[in-house]
Amino acid sequence: MSRIKTDIVTDIRLDSDKIIELKNNNEQFLIAKGRRKTYHILTYGCQMNEHDSEKISGMLTSIGYVETEDEKKADLVIFNTCLIRENAELKVFGKLGEVKGLKRKNPNLLVAVCGCMMQREEIREKVQKKFSFVDIIFGTNTIHELPMLIYNVEINKRKSVDIVDNTELIYEDMPKMRKFKHKALVNITYGCNNFCTYCVVPYVRGREKSRDPEDIIQEIKLLAEDGCKEVTLLGQNVNSYGNNLESEFTFAQLLYAVNEIDGIERIRFMTSHPKDLTEDLIKAIKECDKVCNHLHLPVQAGSNDVLKRMNRKYTKEHYLNLVEKLKEAVPDIAVTTDIIVGFPGETEEDFSETIEMVEKVEYDSAFTFLYSVREGTKAALMEDQVPDEVKHERFNRLLDVLYPIVLKKNQDCIGKVFPVLVETAEDDELTGRTEHFKLVHFKGSKDLIGEIVNVKVTDVKTFHMKGEIKKYGDTPLLKG
Ligand code: 5AD
Ligand code: SF4
Repeated sequence: MSRIKTDIVTDIRLDSDKIIELKNNNEQFLIAKGRRKTYHILTYGCQMNEHDSEKISGMLTSIGYVETEDEKKADLVIFNTCLIRENAELKVFGKLGEVKGLKRKNPNLLVAVCGCMMQREEIREKVQKKFSFVDIIFGTNTIHELPMLIYNVEINKRKSVDIVDNTELIYEDMPKMRKFKHKALVNITYGCNNFCTYCVVPYVRGREKSRDPEDIIQEIKLLAEDGCKEVTLLGQNVNSYGNNLESEFTFAQLLYAVNEIDGIERIRFMTSHPKDLTEDLIKAIKECDKVCNHLHLPVQAGSNDVLKRMNRKYTKEHYLNLVEKLKEAVPDIAVTTDIIVGFPGETEEDFSETIEMVEKVEYDSAFTFLYSVREGTKAALMEDQVPDEVKHERFNRLLDVLYPIVLKKNQDCIGKVFPVLVETAEDDELTGRTEHFKLVHFKGSKDLIGEIVNVKVTDVKTFHMKGEIKKYGDTPLLKG
C-alpha cells in the first residue's frame, strides 16, 4: 500500500448539528411549499470545473436541494468561475449583472460565486463591491464547506466567504452527482507546479498534489459497478502524477491498474505536459487496450524562443520527436493540442514556426487561443506585448492552415467503421465519440445511449462526422 505525504480528509462533516439543522429546515420548506429547494449551477472553463460542479451538486443534493435547468426558477444560483483568459472573466461579470435583476424580483434567492476567479483577492473584492447582493463566496479548496456557508446565510443571516489559498489537504468522499451515467471525470492530481509564464492556474489552484492510487482505483471500481464505461483521468499535468507520493507510483502504472478494472471500456486522460511524457507512458498507451487512441498534447507554440519564454521546458525538436515515437507505437493515434497566438515578443518568424508545427504534426484538432494578459503572471510583465490586430490576423492565418488539416484527417475516416460510445440523443439522431475523440452523428434509438456501437463514417465536416450504425458482425477498427 502506498502512503502519501499529502493529508487526506474523509470527514466532510455532513452530520454536524448545524448541517442537520439546515437539512431539517429544507425538509420544512418541502412540507410548506410542496417542493424541494432548487439550485442552478453556471459552470465556466475546463473539465476540472465541470467536475467541481458535480461535487457542488453532490453536496447540495445531500442537504435536500434538487437541480433546475431554469436559473429563473432557482432558489440558489451558483457561478463556478474560470480565470484562464479575460473572456471567461468578462462573461461571469456580464451574467452576474443579469442575476442582479433576478435577486431584485426574488430577495430570497441565494447567489454564490466560487471557482478560480474567487481565489484572487482583488477579484473577490470587486465582486463584493460591485455585486454586493452575492451571499456566498467560496474557492476551489472549500467546496466541502458549502453546506456550512449556506447555514451561515440562511440561519445566521450572515454573508459567507470561505477561501483557502493553497492547501495540502485532499478531500476524499465528497458526494458527487455525475452528469452522465456512462462516462465520468476522475481527479488524479490537483494544482500545478509548472508556472508556465502565461498561466494563472498555479496561482489559483495551488501546488500539485496526487491522490492516492488506491482511492482512485476504488472510485473507478465503484463507477464501473454503477454502469460507467468511460473514465477521463483529470489533472493539470497528469504525466507528473505520483511526484508527491511517498512510494513510487507513476502515471503509466496508474494506467495499467485502471486498465484492469472490469466494466471500464475506455480510458482517457488530460492534460499531458510534453516535458513529462515518458517512454514508459507511450508504452502504457500502446499496451493498455482500454486507453483510447487519442492524446491531447498541448504544444502552445512552435518556436523554441517562445517556448523558453513560456517556461514550457521542452523544445520543438523534443515535441516532434515525442509525436514521432507515439505514432510509431500507436500508428492510428489522434493527436490534438492547445496553441496560443500572440505571446509577448512573438515575431512573424516565431509564428511561422507554429504554423510549421501544425503542418508537421497534422493535428486531428486543436484549441486555439489569443494570448490573454493575466495579472500576476510573469508574461503579463514582459515587454513587447503583441498588438491586438496582429494577434487576430495571425490567429486567422493559423485557422486557415489548421482547418483544412482537421478536415483532411476526418476525410481519411470516410468508409471506415469505428466503435462509438453513444452519449446523447435528439429525436432519432444520436451523437457519440470515437476512441479518437471525433464527434459522430447517426440515426438510431435513444435506448443506445451509454452503449458502444459500430458506426460507418459516411460524410465529414471540420467539426463533426456523420455515419450509420453497422449491424452485428461488422469488424470495428482495432488499435494499431
Ligand atoms: N492566454 C491564452 N491562452 C491561455 N491558456 C492558458 N493561459 C492562457 C492565457 N493567458 C491556454 C493554454 C492552456 C489552455 C488550457 O489554455 O493553451 O493549455
Ligand atoms: Fe497552466 Fe502550464 Fe500548469 Fe497547464 S501546465 S495549468 S498551462 S501552468
